[in-house]
Amino acid sequence: MPYSADSSLETFVRELPKTETHLHMEGACPFELLQKLNPVKYAKPPLFWDDGFRYESFDQFMELYGEYCSVFFTSANRYGEAAGIVLGNCWEQGCRYVETSFHLPVINFMEDDGPTVLEAIRDAAPPELELRIFAGMCHNDYADEGKDLIEECLTWEGLDGIDLHGPEYIPLELWTADVWARARQAGKFTKAHAGEFMGPDFMELVLDELKVTRIEHGVRSVENPETVQRLVNDKVALDICPISNLKLVVQGVASMSAHPIRQLFDAGVTVTINSDDPFFFGNRLSEEYYALHQDLGFTLVELAQIAGNGFDVALLEENKRESFQNELADFCNEEGLTA
Ligand code: ADE
Ligand code: ZN
Repeated sequence: MPYSADSSLETFVRELPKTETHLHMEGACPFELLQKLNPVKYAKPPLFWDDGFRYESFDQFMELYGEYCSVFFTSANRYGEAAGIVLGNCWEQGCRYVETSFHLPVINFMEDDGPTVLEAIRDAAPPELELRIFAGMCHNDYADEGKDLIEECLTWEGLDGIDLHGPEYIPLELWTADVWARARQAGKFTKAHAGEFMGPDFMELVLDELKVTRIEHGVRSVENPETVQRLVNDKVALDICPISNLKLVVQGVASMSAHPIRQLFDAGVTVTINSDDPFFFGNRLSEEYYALHQDLGFTLVELAQIAGNGFDVALLEENKRESFQNELADFCNEEGLTA
């Protein structure tokens, strides 16, 4: 693992009440489940867990995604099996609240329907973990049977929201603005990936068209100070995944110490930190905190502020949000941290 911590930092991060608001269930696939499926093929840890490994492109990442995930996520039961381990892991790391997504079109390739998958994921979560589940879809998924599924998912009671993901360079199509608006009318929360592989203009387009208040990644906003100011003024939060950005060689992230999260945080943007696809980056949420502390000079107080941002943006009733924020404040007091 590239990031380790001395025992005091390790304990601090583990005990810090926190959130994970950007986690793809397929990209978190527990390796032990793949090994159980095919002990020969998965005898050795994947090459992409090597410390120095960098993806050549997002397309290469997507190819590996297909190779490792499509063989596993073939039923609601499998989603439940994976979710039990993944969400248990979040809980052990001190997460009180998790937002996870699953790739919606996968439903068209299995016998189980969407609500059954949602139920399997929810039933597998640690009982005290606050869990919100999102359906993820790509820019060009509103076609053929994908279209019916997208319309249908807006009616699923167990679905908390929708997220736009996948290759960012595929142009934004007209259907998205309409579906995103109707999703909100149906009580679903909406977010979108942007500013990972495309620049600030695409982020502005997504903000204008989809009217989201949360962007997944969004790190390339730093390339335009006006976009950064817009995020601050409009209170748009970024769910950032620093180790993912490093391994996918996102523009501006040649090393962790160059990661724009420092600049965005200092400019007053609400940022959270998350693990994105821990199976493909070999990361754990705790390591995102270690990276910020060790390579970007975030103090313990600042790490606690970032954890607090997670509770600020969480889809929680106000009394529940307050109780998590109080728990975080009590933890900071016990640690002797003052803002
Ligand atoms: N789906 C899974 N991981 C993703 C990422 N980092 N960017 C866009 N879509 C994704
Ligand atoms: Zn993502």
